[in-house]
Amino acid sequence: MFKVLLVSIVYSAVSVDFSSADSIKAATSKIAQQLMSYYRPYPANPPNAREGHIIESTNHDETGFQWYEGGIMWGAMMEYMRATGDNQYTTTVVNGLTLGSSGKIGSFLGANKVINGLAGRWNDDIMWWGLGVVTGPELFGNPTSVMPGGVSYLALIQSTYDDVWAQWDDSCGGGIFWNRNRQDPNKSRKFLKSTITNAQHINIGARLYLMTGNKTYIDNAVKTYNWLKGGIISSDFRIYDGVMSDSTCANSMTDSKYLSDSYNPGTLAGALAWLYKATGDQQYMTAAENIAKKAMDLYSNNGVIQDRCETSANGCAQDQVSPKGTFIRGLAYVYMFTSNQDMKNLIQTTLQNSAKALIPMCDNNWNAYSDYWSTGKSVSTKSVHLQMNALELFNALTLISNNGQSAKLQQPVSAPQTQPQAQPAPGPVDSSATALRALGAIVVVFFMVL
Ligand SMILES: *[C@@H]1O[C@H](CO)[C@@H](O)[C@H](O)[C@H]1NC(C)=O
Ligand SMILES: *[C@@H]1O[C@H](CO)[C@@H](O)[C@H](O)[C@H]1NC(C)=O
Repeated sequence: MFKVLLVSIVYSAVSVDFSSADSIKAATSKIAQQLMSYYRPYPANPPNAREGHIIESTNHDETGFQWYEGGIMWGAMMEYMRATGDNQYTTTVVNGLTLGSSGKIGSFLGANKVINGLAGRWNDDIMWWGLGVVTGPELFGNPTSVMPGGVSYLALIQSTYDDVWAQWDDSCGGGIFWNRNRQDPNKSRKFLKSTITNAQHINIGARLYLMTGNKTYIDNAVKTYNWLKGGIISSDFRIYDGVMSDSTCANSMTDSKYLSDSYNPGTLAGALAWLYKATGDQQYMTAAENIAKKAMDLYSNNGVIQDRCETSANGCAQDQVSPKGTFIRGLAYVYMFTSNQDMKNLIQTTLQNSAKALIPMCDNNWNAYSDYWSTGKSVSTKSVHLQMNALELFNALTLISNNGQSAKLQQPVSAPQTQPQAQPAPGPVDSSATALRALGAIVVVFFMVL
């Protein structure tokens, strides 16, 4: 105890009392605040940035902040709202998701400059954004309420789901392709059916079923899971990266066998937890727990979560950081829906150990300065990538401190449901956002006075 205290005094003035839900939540709020400080909504950003994501450098490639990471960020912010009930960023988050889906066009494959020019032709990319949208109705209640562009949450989720499902074919027993371009001259892009894509789709399908009761979503999710079981999930619950759906049907990770990035098992375990929630069928939760348990063993060091890139010769490139955060998000879903106390304890201990390792590498304002939690190697500069992972970790711990229950979203819910004045991209979404925030603040003050 004394040692922990001493470490936190030496390296950083911030600390958390893990026996106090309020203390965990307060840290989580600070981390979210710092994450949102990276986002300067249109029109403050250069023209490209108006599409709802961050320009950390001018490069939308492996050296900068990529388009899909914007989707992960908004998903993490939605999970923040689920865990804490803090409503102050709702308008910003929903506007960000609206901009990413081209406002009234309502598609993540829409007329968005960044998507068309640089990215977004990958099914996993559009689903990171889609997963942010799925959380909306779970928090705000009504799937058919509309986003600021005039498109309902449900319509946007369904169109994302359908766009991706159209990319299933029966080669190599089934599965959904990773890249949307069937003519891609690069064979590893053309033929890969990636685990992540299929896992995300199960997740969206299970939650769409919960919103609509449409059984097709369950049938397709089960079909996809059965395909994964046929070759991608090993008998001891390690997860391959995918299958090359050419004449070989080769596993794409035959070399460093099984060791795909942590987001594959994490996202798959989370998806199966949702499938359990949707169906009540215990086999899916059992599979989720087995995959999560194996992954926490494989992707950890001294009980602290550690992704594969952290021990590689070159360390983690910018685009290798966020997988760890989505791994943790998946563990949080397992925690939410399992009734297995041993499993809950394991997840809690692993995440708490990870947070205790991270805290000394945060500054006084809760900016994270490293993604190498288990070894304490500093990267000596803060970044949005590091902050996203810190938020996913503390979101999960906040949820756990509430025994896996969602917090009640603070009133007033300024979830943009019907705001005719808010315009889609490239309109000035954020002026109305500011007005709404101001309105929200006034009402909050009013409530406080009461
Ligand atoms: C082919 O695509 C893979 C996966 O994106 C990439 O790693 C590789 O560098 C590409 N190869 C060429 C020659 O561009
Ligand atoms: C159920 O969902 C599927 C897939 O999106 C869709 O094709 C079908 O029309 C839906 N059925 C109903 C009754 O809405």
